[in-house]
Amino acid sequence: MMELQEIITLVRRTKAFVANRERAGHIQVKGPADYVTQVDTDIQNFLAEELGKMTPDIQFLGEEEGLHEMTADTYWILDPIDGTTNLIHDYQHSVVSLALYEKGEVTLGIVYDPFREDVYHAQKGQGSYLNGKQIHVSGAQTLRETIVSVGTSPYDREVADDNFRRIRRVFDRSQDIRRTGTAALDLAYVACGRTGGFFEPLLSPWDFAAGMLLVMEAGGKVTNFDGGPLSLLKRGSVVATNGKVHEELMEVLK
Ligand code: IPD
Ligand code: CA
Repeated sequence: MMELQEIITLVRRTKAFVANRERAGHIQVKGPADYVTQVDTDIQNFLAEELGKMTPDIQFLGEEEGLHEMTADTYWILDPIDGTTNLIHDYQHSVVSLALYEKGEVTLGIVYDPFREDVYHAQKGQGSYLNGKQIHVSGAQTLRETIVSVGTSPYDREVADDNFRRIRRVFDRSQDIRRTGTAALDLAYVACGRTGGFFEPLLSPWDFAAGMLLVMEAGGKVTNFDGGPLSLLKRGSVVATNGKVHEELMEVLK
C-alpha cells in the first residue's frame, strides 16, 4: 500500500516541470480564456505514470483528459497546474492539486506550491498540515474581521455580472477581497487561516477536491452556493469558510 510521504515526495518532484519556462510558453487554447501549457501536460503524464506504478489498482482522473465516467469507486483526482494563466505569465501563483477519492468521499488531499516549497496535506479524520505542522482555520467571527478571496470563473463569462455583484457586496462587508488565480491555493489559505473565506460560482472537481478536505480537516466548512455538499463528479459552485462566517457569507452571496 502507499505511504503518504512517498506520495508527497512524488508530488514535489513536479517542481522541475514548473521551473521550465520554455515549456510554459507552449500554449494551446482549450476554450475562451482557457489554456493548457506543455507544463500542465508534462505534470499530468508524469504523475499518471508514477501513481500508476505506485498504486496500480487506483484509477486516475486528471484535468487534461476532462470529466468522464469513472468505472471504479476509488481514484486519484489531479489538477496538474491549478493557475495555468498565472503560469503562462510567470505570476508565480500556481499549484499542483492531488486528491484521493474513495467510495464517495475525499480521503487525502495534497496542494503543492512549488514557488514557496509549501506542501499542504490532509487525511480524512487526521487534521490538516502545512509542511508537517498542523494548521487551523482563522478565528474570525464576522466578515468584518477577515479578508475573503474570490474566484472570477474566467471560462464562464456569462456568470460574471452576478458574480461581480456578489464580490462587491462581500467587499462592502469584509476587510478586503483577494484574487490569486488558483482556487486550490485559495482553499489552502482558508485552511491555514490566512483568509476567512473563499467563493467561486463554477469550479471543476480537480480544482477543489484536495482543498475542500484541507478546509474541513482544519475546522472549516465547505458547501455549494445553496448550502449543500459538493459533488466530485460534476462542476459546481464552492463556498469555503472558517465555519464561523459561513452563514454570514452565504447570506451576502444570495
Ligand atoms: C482555474 C483556477 C482559477 C479559477 C478557475 C479555475 P486552472 O484553474 O483555479 O483560480 O478562477 O475557475 O478553472 O484552469 O488554472 O487549472
Ligand atoms: Ca484548476
